[in-house]
Amino acid sequence: MQSQVIRIEANDWQAVQGSDAWRAALEGGKVLFFPRLGFDLQPGERALLRPDIRDPGVRNISLNVDGSLKGAMGDAATQAALAAMITRFREQALGLIGTLLPHYTSALRLAPTSYRPMQVENRQQSWRADDRRLHVDAFPSRPNYGERILRVFANVNPEGMPRVWRVGEPFETVARKFLPRAKPYSAWQAKVLQALHVTKSFRSEYDHLMLQLHDGMKRDMDYQHNSPQETVPFPAGSVWVCFSDQATHAVMSGQYMLEQTLHLPAAHAYDKDASPLAILTRLVGRPLHGVPPQQGA
Ligand code: SIN
Ligand code: FE
Repeated sequence: MQSQVIRIEANDWQAVQGSDAWRAALEGGKVLFFPRLGFDLQPGERALLRPDIRDPGVRNISLNVDGSLKGAMGDAATQAALAAMITRFREQALGLIGTLLPHYTSALRLAPTSYRPMQVENRQQSWRADDRRLHVDAFPSRPNYGERILRVFANVNPEGMPRVWRVGEPFETVARKFLPRAKPYSAWQAKVLQALHVTKSFRSEYDHLMLQLHDGMKRDMDYQHNSPQETVPFPAGSVWVCFSDQATHAVMSGQYMLEQTLHLPAAHAYDKDASPLAILTRLVGRPLHGVPPQQGA
């Protein structure tokens, strides 16, 4: 399998000029890897890199879109320092995406920024929540109707530990393998899930199929071990970007990462035919109601 990771030697967050080849790679589901684009800690921020700074009741510390901080322990000064560090990362991530993908800028919707101080190897999770298994991102409670999940990651480990990912097959290959095994969609069931508030809004057929791919890959141990894949150690002090709803990924080890999520309407891509929504629609052969019903799909 051709490598799904594209190495880009830029060393200035604000001066990475996008290229058509990189954009096509990203929209083709590849991971853009910037080995020389570290996130620099300010004096004093090293003290924020400890696992017990996270409230044990949450998965990650996050900076909401309104600037409020969630999931952190510590006094007001610690919380303010965390918010400042995560805000600075948010600004750098937005700057990077703005120069790399200028066409996206007007359509991007900001999502929370996360700080993940936990050691990946120690997490105990159900198979479905276990991100050490190869998957594409799809969330059971949050239908997105094909809106894209663009993520910027920075490994800020202070001891030089890499964040080790596995990166798997292209999305269309995955879809061709797992669609035939997908449970059929039921709009009736989707209505019940919405009424019970299991989902925050109506789960479209697109969202159903994405979850089927996510679960299908994660529960198939033969696929996990034997499908084409590469192990990618992202070094401490590096950055990488991917559409996590499209790039097949798993995290195997590492600790201390910053992550920015941005959402993009599928129709706003450079190549409208490359998105998971476009690929699944083509493979299934009918519209998947990628737009919420109340918006007229
Ligand atoms: C994931 O999105 O599956 C996890 C990525 C990471 O924690 O490195
Ligand atoms: Fe993921």
